[in-house]
Amino acid sequence: MANKDQWGSRIGFILACIGSAVGLGNIWRFSYMTYENGGGAFLIPYFVALLTAGIPIMLLEFGVGHKFQASSVGVFAKLNKKWEALGWWPQLASFGLMSYYVVILAWALSYVGYAFTGGWGADPNAFFFGNYLQLSSGFWDLQGFSMPVLISFVLIWAINYIITVQGVSAGIEKACKVFMPLLFALSIVIVIRGITLPGAWEGINWYLEPNFSKIANAQVWVAAYGQIFFTLSVAFGVMIAYASYLPRKSDIVNNAFITCLANCGYSFFMGFGTFGILGYMAKTQGVAFQDVVSASIGLAFITFPKAIDLLPAANALFGVMFFVALVVAGLSSSISLVEAFVSGIVEKFDMPRKKAVNIVSAVGFLVGLLYTTKAGLFIFDTVDHYVSNYIIIIVGLYECIIIGWVYGAEKIRNYVNPLSDFAIGKWWDLCIKVITPVLLGVSFVQLVYTDIVNPYGGYPWSGIIALGWGAVAAVIIAGIVLASKPWKSDVLSRPVEEVQE
Ligand code: ALA
Repeated sequence: MANKDQWGSRIGFILACIGSAVGLGNIWRFSYMTYENGGGAFLIPYFVALLTAGIPIMLLEFGVGHKFQASSVGVFAKLNKKWEALGWWPQLASFGLMSYYVVILAWALSYVGYAFTGGWGADPNAFFFGNYLQLSSGFWDLQGFSMPVLISFVLIWAINYIITVQGVSAGIEKACKVFMPLLFALSIVIVIRGITLPGAWEGINWYLEPNFSKIANAQVWVAAYGQIFFTLSVAFGVMIAYASYLPRKSDIVNNAFITCLANCGYSFFMGFGTFGILGYMAKTQGVAFQDVVSASIGLAFITFPKAIDLLPAANALFGVMFFVALVVAGLSSSISLVEAFVSGIVEKFDMPRKKAVNIVSAVGFLVGLLYTTKAGLFIFDTVDHYVSNYIIIIVGLYECIIIGWVYGAEKIRNYVNPLSDFAIGKWWDLCIKVITPVLLGVSFVQLVYTDIVNPYGGYPWSGIIALGWGAVAAVIIAGIVLASKPWKSDVLSRPVEEVQE
């Protein structure tokens, strides 16, 4: 196989990892997850999930990606040829996520335009569902495309493609070196504006004050673990692929901590801005904080436009900044989701990178068209629930079991420690072998139970089976099919020892 592309610098690698992690998940998903799961009550499970699963699995993924110098496909196939499908599943999950992630980015891009003129009008709720998404009556009522969504979708895919096709250092690394500082600068302005508005601290109190009655609710814990995986881009094959592009002499432990803490610190920080603005909105309208926010997905696209309209000054400027921040954050993540799948294809089929990017982008674009239809929201909401909860928890679980017990957590620890500025102790083995899998196992049982008792989102079983379970089945079957194809590169025959320090 041709030499792998490599990151040009350590900072480039870190910015790309943070770029992958920080995304729509930190602004759009984090705020509505926190809101739905009891504000401050959610932060406790969230940080527990970060410490018990997020950081340990990030260390694991950086460690194996670097040690095996391979994507998740190569790693699992090298561990045992029979396990290759296990390596495809995270990459296919990443592809599944990417297919609808780009659509939400497209919404954000359209809203940059609307923010200039307050194009969402006096009723952002009616505008979002009616004029913009043109939502149909339900799952099976596709009714063609929503043109405003489709146009932005094409634009986002064009940008995505232009970046990924250039390669790891010339495309992804360069883009993240621009995107990340820009995002952080915009976010600082948004947070300062948010916390200095009258009434902001009521929202922020709600954000920070733990509601202990919620903490006993197992679903809040499942949501927190799901959010940590989503937000850190772990169990999607991204971080294994990114670490495989590191030069041999690279710090692993420190980089993993920096990525996790920067990502979750960013979400926490942005929470002050979003909840501050929501607090202001409640005060201006003279209503209780809980009554001000529209449900889940609508938070960024309905509640925020309303809040932007209510600002005392510079409404358009603030609105544009908020939606540009969403687009920039999301783009550096969507390119990583493309890369995760591309890395496996290049590795296995010894395919020129450009061809792999063309194939992945073309198929991703075609699948994504489904979400730009008038039933797109129902479809994406269901697929998101199944892909970003079920597959991700399962992948996290077997990564821990196979690397922790079968391969040996201590081998990875002994490998990464001499390379790193500071060493990880035996606590990490304990997390990977026991704590993380037990917590993920419990989350999984809870998730299945809840979904059987109450069909997700109150959607019809036909839609849940076809699209939710259908997406899970598609990932599993596609992984098995890809794993059955013969290897065209020499990755499997290269002993792991050969690439060790
Ligand atoms: N980690 C990415 C996000 O949070 C997928 O949006």
